[in-house]
Amino acid sequence: MELEQLRQQALAQLEAVADETALSSWNSQYLGKNGLLTQALKRIAQLPPQERPSYGQQVNALKEALLAAFERKKSELHQQEIARSLAAEALDVTLPGRPVLRGRLHPATQVMRDILAIFAELGFQVYRSREVEDDLTNFELLNMPPHHPARDLWDTFHTTVPGVLLRTHTSPGQIHVMRQYCPRPIRVVLPGMCYRYEQITARSEIQFQQVEGLAIGESISLADLIGTLSTFAKRFFGGDRRIRIRNSYFPFTEPSIEVDVDCILCQGENAAGPSATATLPVSSCTLCKGTGWLEILGAGMVHPVVLRHGGYDPERFQGFAFGLGPQRMAMLKYGIHDIRLFWSNARHFLEQF
Ligand code: PHE
Repeated sequence: MELEQLRQQALAQLEAVADETALSSWNSQYLGKNGLLTQALKRIAQLPPQERPSYGQQVNALKEALLAAFERKKSELHQQEIARSLAAEALDVTLPGRPVLRGRLHPATQVMRDILAIFAELGFQVYRSREVEDDLTNFELLNMPPHHPARDLWDTFHTTVPGVLLRTHTSPGQIHVMRQYCPRPIRVVLPGMCYRYEQITARSEIQFQQVEGLAIGESISLADLIGTLSTFAKRFFGGDRRIRIRNSYFPFTEPSIEVDVDCILCQGENAAGPSATATLPVSSCTLCKGTGWLEILGAGMVHPVVLRHGGYDPERFQGFAFGLGPQRMAMLKYGIHDIRLFWSNARHFLEQF
């Protein structure tokens, strides 16, 4: 084939090349090992010596030209590919990212930690006690023998195993702590879930947390109990909270008391004397229902029978105990009106904390 014809044919075909595959087959057709240009180069050796220089010059010039054209085409295709992918795979880096939901502690956990932190400052250690109890520890050792009428204060979930039940309060933990530490002094709080076989309402759940408190020593009095609880009320609810002690009854404490805090909404204006920070008259307060006081817990001095069951000699040792409900405390503090919100996994509720 004439070199000029070869040049025209090669360049025309290269012009029509539109992708990498076509380019590489063009390359092997002309520049490859058996390509047309390679054949033309090999022909030099077959020519008579006097024709070789001029032919050689021409064929080498053609080789340079085709190589240059090939490189140009190659980079042209490359540029086209970049332009295409930029257009087709466009990425808008200015779009807002997908929000990552932030987890948080359950309000019951937050309030529980607040409560335990306050008692830690007062020197109370945390003691964990079991949720599945026996009748003996939940009732009998707490001074409630079988058929004792006070058992009716706690509607109980019994299991299919006779004498095994879900604890109705954290008080059986008192027995476990005393038996473990006797005769040493004790200052513990016992947090945990309790269960009661009750109608579920906005004010009562079949499961709820309690924090039991227990202090045993050789010179512990009701004054220590009142001091501890009034300090706690001030720290938990903030401000200048006052507490009120009322007479009560529990089989495992003597005397037994119930503790109220002055209403955090109306400040118990009428009930506890005038208050500069009251926001509404006590008579129209829905939180304390016009009484000026909110009931927060039950407490008392550990009954001698209970001390003895724990291994302590009531002639030498005294103690106080209290039981408070963190859900109830949270409802008072944050104005939550329905206790069922705590365990219903309602996100609109949980997200507020
Ligand atoms: N255990 C009692 C209840 O659940 C509360 C309480 C605890 C009372 C300790 C006195 C002393 O109602």
